[in-house]
Amino acid sequence: RKDVGILAMDIYFPPSCVKQEALEVHDGASKGKYTIGLGQECMAFCTEVEDVISMSLTVVSNLLKNYKIDPKMIGRLEVGSETVIDKSKSIKTWLMQIFEEHGNTDIEGVDSSNACYGGTAALFNCVNWVESSSWDGRYGLVVCTDSAVYAEGPARPTGGAAAIAMLIGPNAPIAFESKYRASHMAHVYDFYKPKLASEYPVVDGKLSQTCYLMAVDKCYRRFCEKFEKFEGKQFSVADADYCVFHSPYNKVTVFLIIHFLKSRFYLFTINPFFCLICLLFIYFKFSTVDEDAIEKLKPFADLVGDESYQSRDLEKTSQQVAKALYDAKVGPSTLVPKQVGNMYTASLYAALLSVIHNKHASLEGQRIMMFSYGSGMTATVFSLKAKKAQHPFTLSNIASVLDVSRKLESRHEVSPEKFVETLKLNEHRYGGNDFVTNNDTSVLSPGTYYLTNVDALYRRFYKKK
Ligand code: ACO
Repeated sequence: RKDVGILAMDIYFPPSCVKQEALEVHDGASKGKYTIGLGQECMAFCTEVEDVISMSLTVVSNLLKNYKIDPKMIGRLEVGSETVIDKSKSIKTWLMQIFEEHGNTDIEGVDSSNACYGGTAALFNCVNWVESSSWDGRYGLVVCTDSAVYAEGPARPTGGAAAIAMLIGPNAPIAFESKYRASHMAHVYDFYKPKLASEYPVVDGKLSQTCYLMAVDKCYRRFCEKFEKFEGKQFSVADADYCVFHSPYNKVTVFLIIHFLKSRFYLFTINPFFCLICLLFIYFKFSTVDEDAIEKLKPFADLVGDESYQSRDLEKTSQQVAKALYDAKVGPSTLVPKQVGNMYTASLYAALLSVIHNKHASLEGQRIMMFSYGSGMTATVFSLKAKKAQHPFTLSNIASVLDVSRKLESRHEVSPEKFVETLKLNEHRYGGNDFVTNNDTSVLSPGTYYLTNVDALYRRFYKKK
């Protein structure tokens, strides 16, 4: 099987959103903290009629319709999510309703969960299936769906919500370079959800930032080693056209890994000026770093490990040094994460589809490096290659189906007061039974699924607008 990967994508995010600027005022945060400090513009959230199940029903039925895919042609369906609605019944089983209607119940796969990494695990499962001897010739379908909500406090502006569906098969326009994958997985308590009666995580924000950086560092080094083993040459940032990172908020930390003097590695972390949120990994061989950059970074050459993750001066310097590379290689991935917020499992793929939206006309033949991070922690760097494909799976058709600009522009801005009120109601209803929603679908587009009621036996009921 050649070029197994992502054949098609679609995204759904709730039309209700709150502006970060308004939230700063409401929360009494200093002006610019959320918009410049975190680099966020807007945050999508689920009202009482939407949740991870309704969003995933919507995105799956939209993808099948938009690319004219016969539901009988799906042979594996994998869901990645960290939003727990039921501790046993998978979200995948709700999605089966769409396929049962067409007489297809022969679909493997269930849900994968580990913080924001579940979507990547689901994607790998589908790609591995298509590449394996178990493949029956049909498509795989991956769904990443999450509603990221935090208790009142500094983490609240880093929420968001969305569902993304990806069709998997051979001859894909976004093909996996499966050989080049490297992971770092370990036990840490940076972000976790031990309170089963609450949707909110327990989060050590600063530790989560350090863990994220450490994971990028470890995965990237291993990735370079594997690349070198297979290709017989060193990997350099010039080998990746775009770098796409899990985006909990749009503050990009740029990493410069400089192979500097006598093959010692010095890790420099940078916090570039828009404070965007992903990570740019730049691996320079000493000889390829320009002299000016070397001079600027020399004072930090003795910092190692945590020291380098935490040095503010190093961040500022690296920000200047890496700006051009950042703008070219990471900038095109930041659109949707900045406008919608953290979508947990969907965040990385929202960043990927931002690249497709921005660059589809020139993407063919280019390599996209992906960094997936899930707290707790699980992380993988992997590589994709954009290819020529047949309609309806061309890059330009994917960009037109995604219709990102229209979807962003047609949203409804909600006041911070209404946003907080909605979160309180959802908090109260979380894990609850025997209630009817207000069934207010006025802001939903036709074809959107919504929650109507939860009965005394905790069974959830949805309708399509
Ligand atoms: N104007 C401009 N910038 C400002 C302003 C202002 N008025 N005020 C603060 N800032 C800057 C700060 O300097 C800081 O930037 P820096 O890191 O470059 O110094 C940034 O805004 C954030 O301010 P902090 O004081 O560091 O923010 P705080 O500690 O209150 O919260 C945090 C930030 C930790 C990210 C919090 O939102 C959080 O816990 N989020 C959830 C955890 C998370 O998303 N972790 C990421 C990986 S794990 C995952 O994906 C869930």
